[in-house]
Amino acid sequence: MLTAADFRAHFPFFAAHPDWVYLDNAATTHKPKAVIARELAFYQQENSNVHRAAHGLAQQATSAFEQARTTVHQFLRPAANSQLIWTSGTTAGLNQLAFGLMGTVLQPGDRILLSALEHHANIVPWQFHCERFGVFIDVVPLDSEHRLDLVTFHQLLEKKPKVVSLSHVSNGLGHIQPVEVMVAAAKAIGALTVVDGAQGVSMGPVNLAQIDCDFYLFSGHKLYGPTGIGALYGKTAALELLRPLLYGGEMIKKVSFTGTELNDLPYRLEAGTPNIAGALGLAAAVEFLQRFDLVTLQQYKQHLLKRLYLGCQQIPGLQLLSGLEDNAGIVSLVLPGEHPADLATLLDQQKIAVRAGSHCAMPLFAALQQSGAVRLSLAAYNTEDEVDLALAALTQAVELF
Ligand SMILES: Cc1ncc(COP(=O)(O)O)c(C=O)c1O
Repeated sequence: MLTAADFRAHFPFFAAHPDWVYLDNAATTHKPKAVIARELAFYQQENSNVHRAAHGLAQQATSAFEQARTTVHQFLRPAANSQLIWTSGTTAGLNQLAFGLMGTVLQPGDRILLSALEHHANIVPWQFHCERFGVFIDVVPLDSEHRLDLVTFHQLLEKKPKVVSLSHVSNGLGHIQPVEVMVAAAKAIGALTVVDGAQGVSMGPVNLAQIDCDFYLFSGHKLYGPTGIGALYGKTAALELLRPLLYGGEMIKKVSFTGTELNDLPYRLEAGTPNIAGALGLAAAVEFLQRFDLVTLQQYKQHLLKRLYLGCQQIPGLQLLSGLEDNAGIVSLVLPGEHPADLATLLDQQKIAVRAGSHCAMPLFAALQQSGAVRLSLAAYNTEDEVDLALAALTQAVELF
C-alpha cells in the first residue's frame, strides 16, 4: 500500500509549478498522471461513441464506460438496489433532482428543508422550481459554533418536509455535518433525503450504505478526476421517481409522433452523448485512490489541517470562522475591517493560491454577518512545508495591513 508521502509524486502540476502553494482544493483538485493518461488514451486509441454503433470499437468503448460506472459506484460503498447516473457535476445533479421531483413527489403546498450553509447549487434550483410549483422552503439555521442547529432541525422536521437536502461538508467552513443522524431523522418522517457530497466525497472512504440517503451527488474534479463529469447516486426506487430534465439520445426506447417511450435507468437520466473520456478519467481517479490507504491519507490531511489551523490562531488579528473539530480540511478566516479579496491578493503575490469571497454560499456568510472570507483548503498532496509557507505569507500580509 502506498503512503501519503508517495501521493504527491503522482501529480505533474507540482513539478510544473514548484513555486506555487496550492490551497484551493475545495474549488478543484489537481489530477494525477493516471487520470490524464486515461483520458489521453481514450482519445488517442479508443475513441468511439457508446451504446450505439454496431462496430467493435464502439462495443469496447461501451464496456469501458459501463465498467467505469461500476468502479465509481462501488467506491461509494453503495446501498443494495442503488445506481449511479453520470452527470456533468454536482450542480447538474441537483438541477435534475429539483426539476425531477416537482409534480412527481412534490405538490403545491408541500415543504422541503435545506440549510443555511448550503452551496448555491443546493439552494437556487430548489428555489426556482419551488416558486413555480408553490412548494415552501424551510431552512435549518446555524448555531453559535457555525454548525447546523440540530434542535431547530428536528423542530422543522415536524412540518413534514417531503425532501430534505443537505451538504455532507460545508464548502464555506469545512464543517462535516452529522448526515447519518440527519438522514435517519428525515427518513423517519418519510422525507426523501439528498446529500450534496461535492466536498464530502473526497474525505473518503464514504459509505453510502451506512449514510443511507436516497440521493448523493458529487463532482469528479474535486476527487482528483476531470472536470465536466460527476455522479448522481440514488436508490433505484428514488431514481424511478425522477422526471428527466433532459431529453434525447440513449434515454429513449421508442419515438413516434403519437408518443415516446423512455428507456430504463440509468440511461433514462443520461440524455445525449455522455462525457465518455470524463467517466473513464473519474474511474481512473478512483482506481488511483484505491492504491492508497484512504484512512491514512485522511489522517495525514487532518494533521496538516491542525498545523494550519493552530498556526492561523497564532497570527494576531485573524478571526477564524471554521472550527477544528469535525472539519474536512478547510480554514476560513477574516481579518476584521479588511476585505478578504485584499488578503487573498497579497497571498497570491506570494504564490499562495487560496479563494476569497462568499464561496457560492451567500446565505452562510449572511448568517455569519461577514461579506466573505479567505478559504484555505487542503488536499492529501499538500505538505507541512506548504502549510508553513502559507502561514508565513499570512503573517506578512497581516502585518502589511
Ligand atoms: C458543497 C458544494 N456543492 C456543490 C458544488 C458545485 O459543484 P460543481 O461546480 O462541480 O457542480 C460545490 C462546488 O464548489 C460545492 O462545494
